[in-house]
Amino acid sequence: MTETKDGVLCIDGVKVTDIVEKYGTPCYIMSENTVRENCRKYKNATQKHYGKNALPLYASKAFSCVEIYKTVSSEGFGADVVSGGELYTALKAGFDPKKIYFHGNAKTDDEIKYALESGVGRIVADNAEELCKIDRIAKSLNVTAEISLRIKPGVEAHTHNFVKTGQIDSKFGFALENGEAFTAAKTVSEMKNVRLAGVHCHIGSQIFDSDPFVLAAKRMLGFIAKIKNELSVEIKELNLGGGFGIRYVEGDNPIPYDDYMKTIAQTVKSESEALGIAVPFILVEPGRSIVAEAGITAYKVIAVKTIENIRTYVSVDGGMTDNPRYALYGSKYEACIANKADLPRDFKATVAGRCCESGDLIGENMMIQRPEAGDILTVFSTGAYNYSMASNYNRVPRPPVIMISNGEPRVIVKRETYEDIVKNDII
Ligand code: LLP
Repeated sequence: MTETKDGVLCIDGVKVTDIVEKYGTPCYIMSENTVRENCRKYKNATQKHYGKNALPLYASKAFSCVEIYKTVSSEGFGADVVSGGELYTALKAGFDPKKIYFHGNAKTDDEIKYALESGVGRIVADNAEELCKIDRIAKSLNVTAEISLRIKPGVEAHTHNFVKTGQIDSKFGFALENGEAFTAAKTVSEMKNVRLAGVHCHIGSQIFDSDPFVLAAKRMLGFIAKIKNELSVEIKELNLGGGFGIRYVEGDNPIPYDDYMKTIAQTVKSESEALGIAVPFILVEPGRSIVAEAGITAYKVIAVKTIENIRTYVSVDGGMTDNPRYALYGSKYEACIANKADLPRDFKATVAGRCCESGDLIGENMMIQRPEAGDILTVFSTGAYNYSMASNYNRVPRPPVIMISNGEPRVIVKRETYEDIVKNDII
């Protein structure tokens, strides 16, 4: 996706310096080819290991705008949405509502009504109040709501590490170990306007190990068998969530998605057989791994401030407003100076954002080329959870998203203007 030409960083063959000359800084730049390649990796892996009995959904919280729903839909993906706003955006893009899975732990009545009226494929129900709400609203609309239950399988996943307890302490879903999930299934089986089509779990994010996925799949299949045996209800669909890790910095070593799928598919098949249940239809929900590495952010260096024996701050014209992940999670990124891409990255910098906030950093101790004001600093792997978590703090307008499609840049999200900033203010 990236290479160096005439000493300048290029993305899909286009010089980053040319892109910023035309569209300004800061800006997000995405490679459509990379997004599509990532989609195909999942498509091929699910097809290879489950045949037609699986569907990947794009977890659109990672990056939501009209164009991305069009892209993933044309790759045969469904979508996971988590709010009325994401649902609205997906529908605006012409997304097939039947392939939309509506998540969330605090859906409002209006959102449930909107989802049912739009004909979404599934509502992934999170709590007891919501089940009653769905039943009531479905009745008033004279429809049957097809739902999935969000389950906490008791698997807590961390990068390179997982523990089996504690997951019950999560705001999402019904717990398995205290019987909450079973009670929810029983409640649904007695409801008139709700049909239990599936179960869902999502064990965490940026996971580099198949073991927690395998354990979660086993527990979920055990639950499906229990429901079959004790309630005579056959659950046909198992959604195993997302969370597959990506490479942010050297040392992040994601295993190929095909390997995950293979290991999990083997478990799903052998466990289903052992439990005497049919192999369920499988859904997976990658978000980050579809878009993160397809995106970079380009900033202009505004000032370079060296504090002798302490550090050098490199201040850029963006920051936590376009990428809050360092401020929120202490996330690490790699960066380079696009107009000096051939030079060695031998300068240690703390890249600082423009907000009135000391914690507004893109990263500490980042190795970049020797910086000067006016340079174009690019940060890699920013395609996920950057634009989607951007804010207008300090009334900073959000940057545009420039998509490179077959070597041609085009704007898929416009830069916000000062007029946009005040558009809801009563003047
Ligand atoms: N499915 C469900 C139900 C989820 O809650 C999530 C992420 C995903 C799928 C997709 O996970 P992914 O494949 O993207 O890891 N803002 C955080 C990430 C929050 C993830 C929330 N749920 C970040 O910037 O790292």
